[in-house]
Amino acid sequence: PMNLSGKSLLTLLDFSAEEIGYLLDLAASFKTMKYAGVPHRYLEGKNIVLLFEKTSTRTRCAFEVGAMDLGMGVTYLDPGSSQMGKKESIEDTARVLGRMYDGIEYRGFEQSVVEELAANAGVPVWNGLTAQFHPTQALADILTMREEFGQDLKGRKMAFFGQVGNTASSLLVICAKLGIDFVQVGPQSDAPGNRTYSPDLWRVCQQLAAESGATLSVTDSVDEGVRGVDAVYTDVWVGLGQSADLWKDRIALLEPYRVTESVMARANADAIFMHCLPSFHDTNTTIGADIAKQFGVREMEVEDAVFESKRSRVFQEAENRMHTIKAVMYATLR
Ligand code: CP
Repeated sequence: PMNLSGKSLLTLLDFSAEEIGYLLDLAASFKTMKYAGVPHRYLEGKNIVLLFEKTSTRTRCAFEVGAMDLGMGVTYLDPGSSQMGKKESIEDTARVLGRMYDGIEYRGFEQSVVEELAANAGVPVWNGLTAQFHPTQALADILTMREEFGQDLKGRKMAFFGQVGNTASSLLVICAKLGIDFVQVGPQSDAPGNRTYSPDLWRVCQQLAAESGATLSVTDSVDEGVRGVDAVYTDVWVGLGQSADLWKDRIALLEPYRVTESVMARANADAIFMHCLPSFHDTNTTIGADIAKQFGVREMEVEDAVFESKRSRVFQEAENRMHTIKAVMYATLR
């Protein structure tokens, strides 16, 4: 077995394809055990802390349930309830938490914060989402694709529609590592509000793709982007913690890239729809209703009909967050 003991999960860039494959195999085993009711309290006596500077449903619950299933104790620090960054530096916080806990999860703003925690904690640190990356999301998504298309995903193709953000960046990384073709489908302009991949990340991923055999591309043509695609993925047009002022520009830019039934009809016959969630597929939320009222748009990045369709795997992805995060904790803390 691989030895990932003591390793942090910050971007996935420093995990090999073999190590990622091992984490996904482990997650699948944990999922089987969970379904069969087989106890797996392999990390009894250990404790972890979850440091959240932003809200969460999936990530927090995945870490908590994963830790409890492994027999660990968990402390949750919600946005605003620790001293970090206000009364105490990140470095000092890391040194304190590292003396009490066996592992630290962090969700927040800049990638530099999670990197600084990892540099000073002396225990594994797991990135539960930063502005730049969402690596545990990408692991769950690839487990979902494996469940759909089989273990070897080389030559399969994912299209990411809409706005480039942390999830899109981590999907780019994992696809490049594993030999999965990846196409970004969205505006390729420098119009206000538009965001594309950082040139540095794109360059690094192209090098990884050259080794794995993946092809990475971008297009502003929906027709071209959806051709031969096995998975159509999208994410909200304005992310958690980003300025609400972005909505107006983003809606105008991204409406042509909404995932509609017509888009899905042009993908492969067995193509699936994916989304990291939460989603604005309807307006049954306070923020969604407010935006809908302000801009006269009901469905945002995906049509309700696609979200609710038989092709949709969004809740399977959400569940897989737990199995994959459990695998990451087990592999790095064992
Ligand atoms: N996908 C995801 O990270 O969800 P939460 O924000 O609910 O954790």
